[in-house]
Amino acid sequence: MLTSQTLKLNNGREMPIVGLGTYKSGTGEVERAVKDAIDCGYRHFDCAWFYGNEDEIGKAIKDKINEGKVKREDLFITSKLWNNFHAKNKVVPMLKETLQSLQMSYIDLYLVHWPFAFKEDVSLWPINDGKAAYSDIDYLETWEGMQECVNLGLAKSIGVSNFNQSQIERLVAAATILPAVNQVECNPNLNQKPLIAACKQHGIVITGYCPLGRSENAGTPGFPDPTINDPKVIEMAKKYNKSPAQVVLRYLASLGVSVIPKSVTKSRIQENINIFDFVLHDDDVAYLDSCNKNKRVCPLTYYADHPHYPFNDDV
Ligand SMILES: NC(=O)c1ccc[n+]([C@@H]2O[C@H](COP(=O)([O-])OP(=O)(O)OC[C@H]3O[C@@H](n4cnc5c(N)ncnc54)[C@H](OP(=O)(O)O)[C@@H]3O)[C@@H](O)[C@H]2O)c1
Repeated sequence: MLTSQTLKLNNGREMPIVGLGTYKSGTGEVERAVKDAIDCGYRHFDCAWFYGNEDEIGKAIKDKINEGKVKREDLFITSKLWNNFHAKNKVVPMLKETLQSLQMSYIDLYLVHWPFAFKEDVSLWPINDGKAAYSDIDYLETWEGMQECVNLGLAKSIGVSNFNQSQIERLVAAATILPAVNQVECNPNLNQKPLIAACKQHGIVITGYCPLGRSENAGTPGFPDPTINDPKVIEMAKKYNKSPAQVVLRYLASLGVSVIPKSVTKSRIQENINIFDFVLHDDDVAYLDSCNKNKRVCPLTYYADHPHYPFNDDV
């Protein structure tokens, strides 16, 4: 049994294990989703400037605080710095923009969204511009800006996302403030055990994104089949009187990772946080372990020739 529903970060702060993902949670639906999540007991919200919906999330949180349902200090809010803004002097202004949208004076966790940078004046997702859109700003420079966010009291913790093991080691060697979190894709198709172990050496906690394998894309050619659709997992879930999503999220939590399933459906939002009242048997864990194929939902292979692309290494 998990004894706690939070994970301790390397700066002593606590992060709730289950958070609500908000990527692709659209205008007009994310406000309701965040409010429903707060009512269901969520205190951890995963946001990003790139998702374009921080205004609506901020409104939902503000309303719930004003209603007296929750206090700001009970919430754990994450946001992320996008790839066009990796220059050291852009980091604090970008966080301030996020804070303004979220209507908050500080963020609990600010992440470098990806280790590779784009030029500032190109598109946010420069697929057709190719290498011409790449910036050679090193994430070590970006990290100096991230540290400033902590020193100014704008971020309680800082971390990274989509960093591989060697990028983590290089960053740790140069950092004054250690990254607290590495947010990476983590689901039974890509269980990330080697990266979890490597990050643990530095007390860095893994947050797992796409924990449900981004099930809305199931059936797309080349897309890894989400484990929640695996007949054996569906059968397994019945045995525990749980849903396949709950079985998968419970498995990931037992690996020591935090999970941030996205949903805009109230029944699923409720379901996804209700994972702490059962324990998976060893043979079921062994089956879920055996699902690991190292196949990614988010390989971003168009950027594979960027010098800081993370997924050319195995770990
Ligand atoms: N750092 C990064 O680079 C990065 C990359 C990707 C994602 N993320 C973060 O991670 C979060 C989660 O990843 P994701 O949104 O890509 O994928 P996901 O959470 O694995 O899957 C979301 C999909 O699963 C559905 N779903 C939710 N709960 C379900 C349940 N109990 N049973 C069946 N289906 C369920 C959702 O549908 P409904 O909404 O219709 O209910 C949605 O279609 C994102 O929202 C974002 O915050 C970060």
